[in-house]
Amino acid sequence: MLEHDCGACHGLTLQGGLGSALTPEALVGKSDDFLVATILEGRKGTAMPPWKKFLKESEARWLVLQLRNLPKKQAD
Ligand code: HEC
Repeated sequence: MLEHDCGACHGLTLQGGLGSALTPEALVGKSDDFLVATILEGRKGTAMPPWKKFLKESEARWLVLQLRNLPKKQAD
């Protein structure tokens, strides 16, 4: 789910693409509430769509948790 629906824009390894990178390093300093709100409401003026039709708030929170705990990809 993360890879297919989110990876389409954020890149299959979530390093960024059309959307910004969603790696743990990129999310440091951004609050859970802010990120959950971004996922549920989307972000105006950008390609980030709102997901609240498909995701509950608890599911968005879970996604943020997964993003924060992604294994580090080796830099190349
Ligand atoms: C249609 C393309 C698209 C899809 C699909 C998409 N995103 Fe995004 N997303 C974006 C863009 C573009 C941004 C950057 C918005 C900006 O520039 O502020 C973004 C930003 C974000 C942010 C905020 C990142 C930050 O650093 O502030 C989060 C979190 C996020 N997306 C999560 C997700 C998740 C989780 C999914 C899958 C359920 C998803 N996105 C699917 C385009 C997309």
